[in-house]
Amino acid sequence: MSLDSPSSARVVCISGGTSGIGAALVAAFLATGDRVYTFGRNPERVARLAQRHAVAAGSLVVTVADVTDAAFRAELAARIGAECGRLDCLVNNAGIIRGGGCLEEDLADWRATLETNLIAPFALTQVCAPLLRLSPAPAVINISSACAQHPFATCTSTSYSVSKAGLDMLTRRLALALGPEGIRVNAVAPGVVPSEMWGDATGLIDEIVQRRHVLQHRVVDPVDVARAVLFLASAQAQVVTGTILNVDAGYTLG
Ligand SMILES: NC(=O)c1ccc[n+]([C@@H]2O[C@H](COP(=O)([O-])OP(=O)(O)OC[C@H]3O[C@@H](n4cnc5c(N)ncnc54)[C@H](OP(=O)(O)O)[C@@H]3O)[C@@H](O)[C@H]2O)c1
Repeated sequence: MSLDSPSSARVVCISGGTSGIGAALVAAFLATGDRVYTFGRNPERVARLAQRHAVAAGSLVVTVADVTDAAFRAELAARIGAECGRLDCLVNNAGIIRGGGCLEEDLADWRATLETNLIAPFALTQVCAPLLRLSPAPAVINISSACAQHPFATCTSTSYSVSKAGLDMLTRRLALALGPEGIRVNAVAPGVVPSEMWGDATGLIDEIVQRRHVLQHRVVDPVDVARAVLFLASAQAQVVTGTILNVDAGYTLG
């Protein structure tokens, strides 16, 4: 698919843009006129996203792919380099939650969770770094979670909380390492965002929102997360790096 957005458009890569928060991110960046590369594993979700943004087809590249696949990550970076010559913003959004409890969690679930939520964001940033260095205002934004900041009993998967706590430290380590080159690295930590990730756990959503979302017991909308990401990607955040921005209706307050 060729790209025909205006030359001032930013080049943005979003992992897992085919559902939930990622889909809101895709819509938000496209709405500002940016060029967006995204992907997910499920072909139907990929087709749905392409159909939803058919009018922006020249600005959107959406493919079926797995972020844990090293060959794919290398191909993606090569493609963005060949088509755009740089990358302005990388959003590490793809994530999964498996299992529940603590000692009873399955090791295969632990490995899949760490591979997707922690190792893949590092590896994608690593492979994209040469393209980010070619941007006039490069930014990396990791989608973390309120679950990273405290062992809340309402965060039911230990592997998930640990993966996101690791992602927060990765955010700071990358900010430290890449800051001298002008590459900003930040994270957004959402509270509860009703999405496909929750499956049919609507009772748990209600419980958390009542107990922890002290701000009028509001859920967080994917668009709330997208607004925070747009800010962190923008020139308005030009000296903001290494921060974890809570977008959580107060989840982490107590
Ligand atoms: N929903 C919440 O309450 C909440 C709260 C805090 C943080 N978050 C974080 O927000 C991010 C987005 O979650 P969401 O709520 O929007 O969930 P979602 O609706 O399930 O979306 C997850 C997205 O990631 C993709 N994905 C998952 N594994 C992938 C892989 N290995 N390779 C490529 N794509 C992959 C999914 O597509 P495929 O399944 O088709 O691959 C989908 O597009 C995650 O990092 C999540 O941990 C969510």
